[in-house]
Amino acid sequence: MAGLFISFEGTEGGGKSTQVGLLAERLRQLGHRARVLREPGGTPIGEEIRHLLKHHPSNEVMMPEAELLLMNASRAQLVLEVIRPALTAGEIVLCDRFYDSTTAYQGYGRQLDLSLVKSVIDFAVGRTRPNLTLLLQVPTEVSEARRQARQAATSGPRDRFEEADRAFFRRVEHGFQQIADAEPERVRVVDATQGIEFVHDDIWRLVAPHLTP
Ligand code: TMP
Repeated sequence: MAGLFISFEGTEGGGKSTQVGLLAERLRQLGHRARVLREPGGTPIGEEIRHLLKHHPSNEVMMPEAELLLMNASRAQLVLEVIRPALTAGEIVLCDRFYDSTTAYQGYGRQLDLSLVKSVIDFAVGRTRPNLTLLLQVPTEVSEARRQARQAATSGPRDRFEEADRAFFRRVEHGFQQIADAEPERVRVVDATQGIEFVHDDIWRLVAPHLTP
């Protein structure tokens, strides 16, 4: 039995991780096998790449091309080591970000050539594609406030992505919108400004038709 692959996307501040957790919990209560993953990361190799991308002191000089390849190195490992076997075993895979983040951040945000970005993604994932993508949308001011609050609250290593400038995040938002417009069947937009339970209800309404009893 083929499983179900759902990715969660969006800029910071949409509550993706919370919603992934709530959905996993509800699915498990109904007897489904749900696996929660995140990108970059999700495997031991991927988590090391995540650290390199986000927090390593040397990442200040990281070029967009290197960033693109590292994101997709982590992704290829995750797809082959975890996602594909889990789907073959009939599991439901919930991924906190997947390749649409690369299109939005490295393509639109860093302004790398979009067709080149697509080729790299295709190489990394092959035929493994989300059945459904939930794009959690919040206004720019909300994600900006969220990033600032997180930066102020962390005493740990700095996060290179959260330090990027406003124009970068506007391009990323525009990128996500373009992705949703281009693939309205797969990518469903969720208003993430509502209370957590309302957002979860909206998500459930979109997920339920994909479930096999
Ligand atoms: P997060 O897991 O805390 O959201 O951090 C991941 C960061 O990495 C986030 O700022 C988005 C960024 N990112 C990319 O730039 N490209 C990608 O392909 C992925 C998966 C994430």
